[in-house]
Amino acid sequence: MNKIVIAIDGYSGCGKSSTAKEVAKKLGFTYIDSGAMYRATALHFLNENLSPLRAEDVEKGLKGLQISFQLNPTTSQQETYLNGVNVENEIRTMRISERVSEVATVKVIRTALVAQQQQLGQKKGVVMDGRDIGSVVFPQAELKLFMTADVETRAQRRQFELLAKGEQASLEEIKLNLESRDEVDSNRTESPLLKVSDAIEIDTSSLTFSEQVEQIIDLVKKVTLN
Ligand code: DC
Repeated sequence: MNKIVIAIDGYSGCGKSSTAKEVAKKLGFTYIDSGAMYRATALHFLNENLSPLRAEDVEKGLKGLQISFQLNPTTSQQETYLNGVNVENEIRTMRISERVSEVATVKVIRTALVAQQQQLGQKKGVVMDGRDIGSVVFPQAELKLFMTADVETRAQRRQFELLAKGEQASLEEIKLNLESRDEVDSNRTESPLLKVSDAIEIDTSSLTFSEQVEQIIDLVKKVTLN
């Protein structure tokens, strides 16, 4: 299999990360969760009591920010580290989901994270998911996908994920969070979420997880055969 870049963008909670992870595993590619980087940044700003909307705080915050990914040998899952500390579970909580979109509107923060994402994908053979991967991070990606799903389905899936981690949240609360993040992500000035013209749309509302993965693997085969 040729080493290509697969860019997966789309709305919050439509299964991008889990799908991207499985596709990467099947292809022997590296998976990079760009959303985790924005989440870790949001956590860092909260921990340090810094406002992403104040220029001097942003400068200070970025200076003290180091994000990395490490494979957990027991679970074979990639986990997110903030300044050397494993924050994988903490960044998935509602507390961070409620703050992350604001952090992601800030241009200097995006520039710093995009530079790191481009560096991580330099050698190709990567699947990266986010909101601006096909438009800004890897505009030359060989395969660009745009994933969608109706908001009810997305809220149910997210509630299930949170429950599995021991966090209870109502469907209404999750739905409101997803809708408000979609709204901020789609309407911000800096790198808004959009479907680029060369992206292939996949609506996952009525697809099973393995169907989603298979659809993408088929597309990868087509791209790499050409
Ligand atoms: O994929 P996620 O839900 O974990 O992403 C968290 C937030 O980060 C999301 O609300 C928007 C932002 N984000 C972004 O602006 N650009 C990316 N490439 C990835 C995520």
